[in-house]
Amino acid sequence: MSGPLLLVENLTKHYPLGAGFFKRPFSVVRAVENVSFSVDAGETLCIVGESGCGKSTVARLLMRLVDPTGGRVLIDRTDIAGLKKHELRVHRRRMQMVFQDPYSSLNPRLTAGQIITEPVENFERLSRKQRNALAADLLQKVGLAPEMTHRLPSELSGGQRQRLGIARALSLKPSLIIADEAVSALDVSVQAQILNLLVDLQQQMSLAFVFISHDLGVVEHIAHRVAVMYLGRIVELAPCEALFAKPVHPYTEALIAAAPVPDPTRVRLAVPVEGEVPSPINPPTGCAFHPRCPLAVERCRIEVPPLVPMADGRVVACHVRAPATESPAVAAKSGPVANSCA
Ligand SMILES: Nc1ncnc2c1ncn2[C@@H]1O[C@H](COP(=O)(O)OP(=O)(O)OP(=O)(O)O)[C@@H](O)[C@H]1O
Ligand code: SF4
Ligand SMILES: [Mg+2]
Repeated sequence: MSGPLLLVENLTKHYPLGAGFFKRPFSVVRAVENVSFSVDAGETLCIVGESGCGKSTVARLLMRLVDPTGGRVLIDRTDIAGLKKHELRVHRRRMQMVFQDPYSSLNPRLTAGQIITEPVENFERLSRKQRNALAADLLQKVGLAPEMTHRLPSELSGGQRQRLGIARALSLKPSLIIADEAVSALDVSVQAQILNLLVDLQQQMSLAFVFISHDLGVVEHIAHRVAVMYLGRIVELAPCEALFAKPVHPYTEALIAAAPVPDPTRVRLAVPVEGEVPSPINPPTGCAFHPRCPLAVERCRIEVPPLVPMADGRVVACHVRAPATESPAVAAKSGPVANSCA
């Protein structure tokens, strides 16, 4: 199939809060505003940003767990908004989700084997032999011993539970996995094992990932491209290596500056961002980053900067660093640094 596997166009989600006279909402949370991106088969797009910037809402919109206020999501050119309930159920086989806390998303009364085969059995009857073979195959794929098949989630470690969650997500042979903070609850060595597992599975099965994380170390390890979100909007979307070598948006620059540096030869040139993320109920006018931005000019307080394509394939929304009216000559300050992008 030509074209991207996933295409997201102008996706918007506003949550009404409270109900006043005539059930009018008191206010609206602007969780996601005009978000657009695409993901190819076998590609990993990471979404990063501070807490509350709308990452999980994007994930829920992609799975159609919530309906958008505007925009659309196309999987293989099919608009998921137009699908009827039974069509959506079939379509969801192609997209699976892996959550931050596998414990709360795994049925505590089912064994590992039952948890893995349950999604398939929602669609087709399996003989005991087929069920056992499927469970054994998937346990092996995620690096769990076959005898784990009889264990309950409470009898597994955090890393083993996350492997089980991944095995369950794989059982329907999806093309796309949406992983929302899938390794955030794990300690660093287990995180690395799970990330390596995901990369191996991606290569074996040509899986695409939308990988959501606030941890830039994790993102740098796994991403092909990175979308940086601030207060509901994408402010920079770039190939991973280019983003870490030369962040263009001042917010990206500040996020990278604030992240811990595992490599002592790497130098941080920018200043970490200060202050809190403003409320999405009453976001700042113009560029929502302007109250925290050291480069802000008058125009930033008035006009929302559009995403401008740059020569190296990234898009950036910044009046100063990527002016829409001028040629996209970039004044990124940081010099090139080594990185380990996928
Ligand atoms: N059901 C809801 N009703 C009202 N507001 C909501 C709802 N779900 C999310 N929000 C708000 O939408 C905004 C974005 O939330 P979201 O969970 O997408 O952020 P996030 O980037 O995933 O944050 P975190 O990194 O903390 O997980 C937040 O301000 C949140 O409070
Ligand atoms: S548009 Fe203005 S406020 Fe926003 S990031 Fe660029 S310089 Fe800063
Ligand atoms: Mg979240």
